[in-house]
Amino acid sequence: MQSVAKEFPVKTGVDRKDRRELAKMLTKIIGSSHVLYAKIRGVHWNVVGPAFYSLHKMTEEQYEDLNEAIDDMAERIRAIGFQAPTGLAEMMEHSVVKDQTKLLPANDMVKELVEDHDSVSRLLREGVAEAEAAEDVKTADLLTERIGVHEEAAWMLRATIS
Ligand SMILES: [Fe+2]
Repeated sequence: MQSVAKEFPVKTGVDRKDRRELAKMLTKIIGSSHVLYAKIRGVHWNVVGPAFYSLHKMTEEQYEDLNEAIDDMAERIRAIGFQAPTGLAEMMEHSVVKDQTKLLPANDMVKELVEDHDSVSRLLREGVAEAEAAEDVKTADLLTERIGVHEEAAWMLRATIS
């Protein structure tokens, strides 16, 4: 059986040291996105009350988008030559988003999602700055686009519970 390639030699003009740091940053963003993904689904499944339908639908759009983004970012790690995270423990270890360990009233869980989207936006902003400093324009571009998505997701959730 073919073994897993931990690192590929990549010669696209971005230093290996910078690419390694960016892979670490991407792992943090992926880990945080995974925990957020799970929390969004928790709201999607458990929400009750007058906003049920809108929150149920909105959270579905958000977790589906996150699912694709996680895949794009993990594949970006491979494209810059490093190893993508392989399991939930690794994701959680690197997450800036705290796991949801018990069910709360819908409003409280939505408030937490807003904070989590904001945390991921801040992390993404750090990632963009690192990628720009390393002149990795593709990673900077990928992460920049994600900031807007998280800001919009936070706005929509905020508006629902205001
Ligand atoms: Fe569903």
